[in-house]
Amino acid sequence: MQIHRALLAGGLFILSAAESYDTYKDHATSTADVLIKKYYDDSDGQFAHLWWNSAITFSALVDLSALVDSKNVANHDIYSLLENVYAKHTPPDSVSNENFINPYYDDEGWWALTWIAAYDLTQEKKYLDIAQSIVEDIYNTGQACGGGVWWSRSHRVVATIENVILMGAAAQLSNRMANEDDVTKYKKMADASWSFLRDSGSWDPDAYTISGDIDSNTCKRTSGGDPSTYCQGILIGALLELASAHKDGGYVDLAKKVAQATMKHPLLTTKDGILQEPLGGFSNDTAQFKGIFMRYLMQLHRRAPDSSYVDFTTKNADSIWTNSRNQDGTIIVRWEGNPTNADLGDYSLEVSTSSANQCLIAAAAMAKG
Ligand SMILES: *[C@@H]1O[C@H](CO)[C@@H](O)[C@H](O)[C@H]1NC(C)=O
Repeated sequence: MQIHRALLAGGLFILSAAESYDTYKDHATSTADVLIKKYYDDSDGQFAHLWWNSAITFSALVDLSALVDSKNVANHDIYSLLENVYAKHTPPDSVSNENFINPYYDDEGWWALTWIAAYDLTQEKKYLDIAQSIVEDIYNTGQACGGGVWWSRSHRVVATIENVILMGAAAQLSNRMANEDDVTKYKKMADASWSFLRDSGSWDPDAYTISGDIDSNTCKRTSGGDPSTYCQGILIGALLELASAHKDGGYVDLAKKVAQATMKHPLLTTKDGILQEPLGGFSNDTAQFKGIFMRYLMQLHRRAPDSSYVDFTTKNADSIWTNSRNQDGTIIVRWEGNPTNADLGDYSLEVSTSSANQCLIAAAAMAKG
């Protein structure tokens, strides 16, 4: 960790809030610069040609642009990057996955969330419109188990993740629609997703975790399946949006409990307080997960500030910077570092760098206050 102008007090280095904001903002900005220079490709508007991962990388860039209150991050125009990825996946110049539609409803949902965030940043109406059309595609493909949605277009699996994403995206739409009918329609959709998740048993009301696949015949959670950081994170985000839709309704309190449960969960957080994924060898999917939790912890802190979120986030951000950064500025998947050079699996450093960047951004946002 770089300590600028630190004050020596009682034998401890103490950073004033403004100083740590500058430090974390610099870390996040330089990491964004690495991601864009190294992985962004103009021809498809994606990072390392990855699909759902690019939605996450973009949502982080949107957060960072909002945080520094500028369309430029490290001299890259984030607004024009958004314009380009939009143009490359909509008519008339679409190169793939036209209108952000593909066979997987979780992938679609991540893009819906990113376009809503892009709309919040830029006020570009077409971004909200595309998010709405994506959510309609997810919902209209046919309901699983009354109130739930399928994981993919082949209608074989019902998983927790796409249902939590739909809950969050629908609630976000409800909170942003101009027309009262749409407000009601998306609020109902979000409520139905939450009822479905509770009834299926994927929500554990004692442990405050959400996990597992759902048997499409019995509509109940299948056995096994550890919780994951990203499901916990997206649930926090979805609960915060439901809180806005319902003028609270106890949802913020529930979001806080999900956050505490994750930060104390023996599989999701190391004994030293570093966020981790319970899964073993990492893939391009699982290496993305942790940053998603950090993004929604940042949103929770904005809504209901709590020093334990700040402690957790700064500890993780500091560990990333000290222990997990390569010479070229990319960041490995384990935020506690990899001192024994263990085999961490097969994942792109674009993915793990983008995930870590969400933690750096969260640390900057919390320091800014
Ligand atoms: C992970 O992503 C990278 C970058 O796009 C790609 O080259 C690699 O093949 C992907 N790995 C797997 C197992 O799909």
